Amino acid sequence: MTDKTHLVDEITGHRRMRRNRKADWSRRLIQENRLTVDDLIWPIFLAEGSGLVEPIPAMPGVNRLSVDQAVEAAKRAADLGIPALATFPNVDLGLRDDTGSEALNANNLINQATAAIKKAVPNIGVITDVALDPFTSHDGILRDGIIANDETVEAISRAAVMQADAGADIIAPSDMMDGRIGAIRQALDAAGHQDVGIMSYATKFASSHYGPYREAISTSGLLKGDKKTYYIDPANGTEALREAALDVEEGADMLMVKPGLPYLDVIRRVKDRFGVPVAAYQVSGEYAMLRAAIDNGWLDERKVILESLLCLRRAGADMILTYFAKQAAQWLAEGPA
Ligand code: PBG
Repeated sequence: MTDKTHLVDEITGHRRMRRNRKADWSRRLIQENRLTVDDLIWPIFLAEGSGLVEPIPAMPGVNRLSVDQAVEAAKRAADLGIPALATFPNVDLGLRDDTGSEALNANNLINQATAAIKKAVPNIGVITDVALDPFTSHDGILRDGIIANDETVEAISRAAVMQADAGADIIAPSDMMDGRIGAIRQALDAAGHQDVGIMSYATKFASSHYGPYREAISTSGLLKGDKKTYYIDPANGTEALREAALDVEEGADMLMVKPGLPYLDVIRRVKDRFGVPVAAYQVSGEYAMLRAAIDNGWLDERKVILESLLCLRRAGADMILTYFAKQAAQWLAEGPA
């Protein structure tokens, strides 16, 4: 017995990692990263109508909300201390066309929701996704089967100004067209929206983890081909840094890495390289994977959700977009993770 202890002390040179881990109080003292409600952004899906709370089959527990219900959700989020919402519209199929003209309707679903939320809950941040995918029969303006970069940039810059006019606090371009951050910054400033920020979907990968989202906004059947000619190859980390660098130069206030958990290395590299706040997006596929395992009883709901979010923080994310935001905020209000 004594001999064995002696042996380990000889091996470790008396250094024992378990000393600091022995009690809850010491584990709390040495904890390097924490998850708080202040780190959370809650993405919500919007739909036309009123009183509508419509389940999304591929994302059990997540619903499409009509504007009045989105306002209720915003109130709950604000009560829980969630700093901001991110909104995504499921636009009526009849309003979608080749150029996404509904994106340039000042009173479209996303802008109606922003105005209503900011009116009822002025203290919650509203982050609007600017892209043409919810409005077109593909993902932008197609020319000869290819998404036309410069025409798309022009359209989303105008859409961004309308979103800011409606009250959006931060514009989040998710399209990955070249030059869009600079173009949106110029358009916002020219319209007097100097205080409206840009959260760039800077390193957005051509990932297979967006499937449930595409069901949520009814684009899955519409997409022509994949998005590999504009999103980043999941194999490429260095290219992602170059993309992020351009967005910083063009005026991004915050950078996002998307998806989250499979891209922790990219979060760390972006955080270390640029002195700007970094957001991680725990996307719909990540939600669906966790949800499926939880619902089957294979993973502990609270533990695995909070761990997945804490790990994004450890990797360097200052803030996290997560469909679990409301649930996580409730747990965090009950006590530490
Ligand atoms: C595009 C957009 C997408 C997501 C957010 N914005 C889908 C895509 O790029 O195809 C995905 C979000 C998620 O999967 O949760 N406007």
